Amino acid sequence: MSCVAMALSVSAVLPTLYEYYTLPKIETGLSANQSYFTLNGRNISLYSGTLHYFRVPKAYWRDRLRKMRAAGLNTVETYIPWNLHEFEDGKYDFGKGGSDMQDFLDVKEFFEIAKEEDLFAIARPGPFICAEWEFGGFPSWLLRTKDIKVRTSDPKFMKYVTRYFNVLLPILALLQFSKGGPIVLFQIENEYGSTEGNGFLPDRVYLRQLVDIYKKNGIRELLVSSDSPTAHGDKGSLPGVLLQTANFAGNPKAEFDKLKELQHNKPTMSMEFWSGWFDHWSEYHHTRDDDDFGKVYEQILTYPASVNMYMFHGGTSFGFLNGANVNNGATDNSGYQPDTTSYDYDAPLTEAGDYTEKYVIVKKLLKKYNKVVTRIPVTPAIGEKIAYPKISVEKEMLLDDILANIHNSVSSSNLISMENLPINNNSGQSYGYILYRKENIDLSPNSILTIEGRVCDSVVVLVNGMLMSKPLSYTEDLNGFGFWRLKNSNLTLGPRGLKNATVDLLVENWGRVNFGLLPQFNQFKGLWQGDVLINKQKVTSWKIYPIEFKKSWNNNLVGWKPLSERWAPGPSLYKATLNIKEAKDTFINMEAWTKGIVVVNGFVLGRYARIGPQQSLYLPAPFLKNGTNSIFVFEHYMPASEIKFCKSPHYKTIKRRGIQGRSFKK
Ligand SMILES: *[C@@H]1O[C@H](CO)[C@@H](O)[C@H](O)[C@H]1NC(C)=O
Ligand SMILES: *[C@@H]1O[C@H](CO)[C@@H](O)[C@H](O)[C@H]1NC(C)=O
Ligand SMILES: *[C@@H]1O[C@H](CO)[C@@H](O)[C@H](O)[C@H]1NC(C)=O
Ligand SMILES: *[C@@H]1O[C@H](CO)[C@@H](O)[C@H](O)[C@H]1NC(C)=O
Ligand SMILES: *[C@@H]1O[C@H](CO)[C@@H](O)[C@H](O)[C@H]1NC(C)=O
Ligand SMILES: *[C@@H]1O[C@H](CO)[C@@H](O)[C@H](O)[C@H]1NC(C)=O
Repeated sequence: MSCVAMALSVSAVLPTLYEYYTLPKIETGLSANQSYFTLNGRNISLYSGTLHYFRVPKAYWRDRLRKMRAAGLNTVETYIPWNLHEFEDGKYDFGKGGSDMQDFLDVKEFFEIAKEEDLFAIARPGPFICAEWEFGGFPSWLLRTKDIKVRTSDPKFMKYVTRYFNVLLPILALLQFSKGGPIVLFQIENEYGSTEGNGFLPDRVYLRQLVDIYKKNGIRELLVSSDSPTAHGDKGSLPGVLLQTANFAGNPKAEFDKLKELQHNKPTMSMEFWSGWFDHWSEYHHTRDDDDFGKVYEQILTYPASVNMYMFHGGTSFGFLNGANVNNGATDNSGYQPDTTSYDYDAPLTEAGDYTEKYVIVKKLLKKYNKVVTRIPVTPAIGEKIAYPKISVEKEMLLDDILANIHNSVSSSNLISMENLPINNNSGQSYGYILYRKENIDLSPNSILTIEGRVCDSVVVLVNGMLMSKPLSYTEDLNGFGFWRLKNSNLTLGPRGLKNATVDLLVENWGRVNFGLLPQFNQFKGLWQGDVLINKQKVTSWKIYPIEFKKSWNNNLVGWKPLSERWAPGPSLYKATLNIKEAKDTFINMEAWTKGIVVVNGFVLGRYARIGPQQSLYLPAPFLKNGTNSIFVFEHYMPASEIKFCKSPHYKTIKRRGIQGRSFKK
């Protein structure tokens, strides 16, 4: 008791971080003019952690930031996603712009809360952000410009970058440290050196142009680049203009020594020290050993170096906003690996904001090594989690009824990709599903459907509403018809001959690539790589339905019917009601379902897939209301009759040979 009181009174006399660094007045920002950082003339090591405001409900920003500060960190780092802030060509959202993600997008308020919670900030506006985020943060409407070369000085690309940065950067300029705000550092582009390969050399003209746009918009704080220096040297940087920083999981000494060799008498910093890792669908769940994590973190602190931990709190790629990798240097979509909705990352704070052993390790090590002692808040209590009682599916909507709700379908003789649909004020379709319907076609017995090229990314095939393609039940099914791995794929459309049949091809966009060689940034979704043939005859005259699952559409669907006795597998909506006295954090357990998305009160929570590893979806309390909540599921194949809840996440990977379970990396 007396010890606690004593500790409180001692910590109360300590200055806050801002008092320590800004009193009596602010004269200079972060300086890299010597072998260590100074801020306003005082020595500082940046002890930073990543939290993406666009992956955490706004109501939880302050809680997560305070937990970060309570661990002893002095800085928070975030990327800034262009695809959310300019959600349609020329249409911006910084919190009130009317997009479905608007509640996440008040970036100014985020930085202000960071300051209130006594943290400095690092901003990484890209424009490319990687981040396991849809298209690395690029808006999909960029692709409507023919032959646009993203991440280069291509004027077709730079025209849009300039226009967006001229809107974004003035907002950030006012939040700079030298203007009394929290931002001490900006990163230009992201791991740009890793674009090297397949005949491409990183384009320094592009980096220079980005720096010029920053300067023109009043950005005065330190500018940096980040890469693996041992792998890419200074190829992704502008020596003398950008301070280089290092990204890695282990072996900090090698990376930092290389940095010192590349830049003499400069501070050493890791912009991304990877606390854990993310999951692709069909993999085992990744975790990082706590002791190994702590050992490397201590090596960084004692080097000594500044460090941003990526991630400190991973959060969630809600909706359709996850990205994907392309592996093995593949130059087409064959190596496509989409990321799961959860972005827990095995970070010090879990997806739901709980403390882990890594949090304890960080707090202990920072207390030991941070020489600048300032006031640290009391560690906040964790939020309560609940497993609500399971709820039954009450209503359904079959595919034809879903399509009857779509009023912007397009008739076209040829196939059109999502991006090139003439919808959304000519920004095309960014996310969700696209359905290609062929009506009035006669099918002979065992007709062969051929899809030229690759499906981007998966297709469910129906004839007269009957499912013809195979459900995604095991990870190995991804090798078969219906998925991106097969080129020029074929499917037999049933043994019966049919007159005047309707053939539906429902294509899911699983998330555009955020990491790979530049040719993979050819991110069109839907069917566009070739024709669709039936018995070797090209099919024409399509009706194309964008199924975007936008909030206003989700909340105004008509045609719900009581659950029918008759049941056939295929894409349908299933609705249930969750009546609760008090909204609390929970997880929706989708283990009994097959593949699809969950929508809560009109907001697309995210994707689920039986194959795993993710089996449950984090549902934060701010998305729920006290009282009645509507939950519906878009299931592609086989629904369950109930929706279940759990208090903690479930992971499991389903392989044909029955190998399953939770895995621990290394
Ligand atoms: C670092 O040095 C440069 C060149 O001398 C100077 O212009 C700049 O103001 C210095 N930065 C800081 C933060 O002191
Ligand atoms: C700042 O750090 C440098 C390098 O560690 C050290 O030489 C110097 O004495 C420090 N200055 C103060 C005022 O602590
Ligand atoms: C469509 O885009 C144009 C040009 O960007 C803009 O002037 C117009 O207001 C937009 N219309 C709607 C309905 O958003
Ligand atoms: C599909 O059929 C065509 C024509 O018979 C053939 O060339 C192609 O290899 C088949 N595709 C696959 C993936 O087997
Ligand atoms: C073909 O089927 C459609 C319904 O899909 C129907 O409206 C139409 O009358 C049918 N045409 C013929 C010639 O049977
Ligand atoms: C929900 O109910 C709880 C318990 O009665 C209450 O504390 C909370 O403020 C309510 N939330 C809202 C949004 O009304």
